[in-house]
Amino acid sequence: MAPFSIPLMTLLVTGGAGFIGANFVLDWLATSDEPIINLDKLTYAGNPETLTSLQGDARHQLVQGDIGDSALVSRLLAEHQPRAVVNFAAESHVDRSIHGPGDFIETNIVGTFRLLEAVRGYWGGLADSDIREQGLAPTGAADKPTKAGFRFLHVSTDEVYGSLAKGDPAFAETHRYEPNSPYSASKAASDHLVRAWHHTYGLPVLTTNCSNNYGPYHFPEKLIPLMIVNALAGKPLPVYGDGMQIRDWLYVKDHCSAIRRVLEAGRLGETYNVGGWNEKPNIEIVQTVCKLLDEMRPKADGSSYASQITYVTDRPGHDRRYAIDARKLEAELGWKPAETFDTGIRKTVEWYLANPEWVAHVQSGAYREWVNKQYA
Ligand code: NAD
Ligand code: TYD
Repeated sequence: MAPFSIPLMTLLVTGGAGFIGANFVLDWLATSDEPIINLDKLTYAGNPETLTSLQGDARHQLVQGDIGDSALVSRLLAEHQPRAVVNFAAESHVDRSIHGPGDFIETNIVGTFRLLEAVRGYWGGLADSDIREQGLAPTGAADKPTKAGFRFLHVSTDEVYGSLAKGDPAFAETHRYEPNSPYSASKAASDHLVRAWHHTYGLPVLTTNCSNNYGPYHFPEKLIPLMIVNALAGKPLPVYGDGMQIRDWLYVKDHCSAIRRVLEAGRLGETYNVGGWNEKPNIEIVQTVCKLLDEMRPKADGSSYASQITYVTDRPGHDRRYAIDARKLEAELGWKPAETFDTGIRKTVEWYLANPEWVAHVQSGAYREWVNKQYA
């Protein structure tokens, strides 16, 4: 008898050339043959070099494009008939959002809105022509059947909940939204849109709100990779304010496993907080990075990398503390992180030491040349 085989479906991943999205794509295709269409605008944060190991792999197709391009998204959905969309695409750096919030409003809010509309047109209730002809779908009654089993998973952040005081309990899903930066406000708005598209139109959505990620392929503008690459380059390690701001850290592959689990078994319309119970003040993170580098790549003069730590002017409106209560995800879906902070940060420092070329291409801008050549 011929072996029974389950037909392979497809995922549409957005922002899959960025830090978390690319880790998700790589992890997914390491354990599954289900194809991924990867829609990424390839902004400064999108790095196809991260996906080099998938070159020539028929299971992965990278498409350069904007989640706000309704016609493109509708075409990809119609062509590939994905069983789910996982939305990582966003502008993600708080400091950039302070200096130039426009792109954050454009991608995180307007882009998410347009993506939701294109997805709604695909999922059902609207004719494809509505999307194609008008750019946006009108509201109105369903005029075609919905796609059974389809899911839209929106990847978001704990920063939407605002800042905690010392002693406050960690953010649960029921915590009110109090975003403080242009970044977190734009992500909060996107979460609200996703929620509204479920309640109003019945779109089958899931939202995850995760704490700070770290790990391989992290763009070196964020705290941990910036400290590693600056330390190795002999540059100052800029710590904002008194360095006592607290973040809750999760190894990126644990975030990816949580997303896989929510995609698989999460209840539609629900939000799930993702975190590993790892609250740490920034200065402790920087000191840990220095200690690991002292051990793995000691400086020739015998001094510690910690001597490069420099306190600098604080970020405006800097949130003091984030902490995630992930008990809903743990209890309902049985998810647990595989890494402790100690194991995850060691793996991260090892990865940066083992991949100087990836770092050098980001720093020199050579990864942009690669993008321009491929997609000219
Ligand atoms: P990132 O900045 O590394 O990657 C974002 C990716 O989205 C890039 O590849 C970029 O090219 C792409 N992109 C940007 N605008 C786009 C657009 N208009 N259309 C299509 N693609 C576009 O971000 P990240 O750290 O990987 O974060 C991914 C998601 O996870 C974001 O939604 C972010 O808010 C969320 N998140 C991040 C963290 C974290 O610690 N990094 C924590 C929780 C949640
Ligand atoms: P970041 O990695 O930018 O993530 P987020 O702002 O989303 O939490 O910053 C993490 C913490 O580290 C945050 O409290 C700001 C601080 N920080 C520094 O002290 N120095 C730096 O150079 C950077 C980039 C961040």
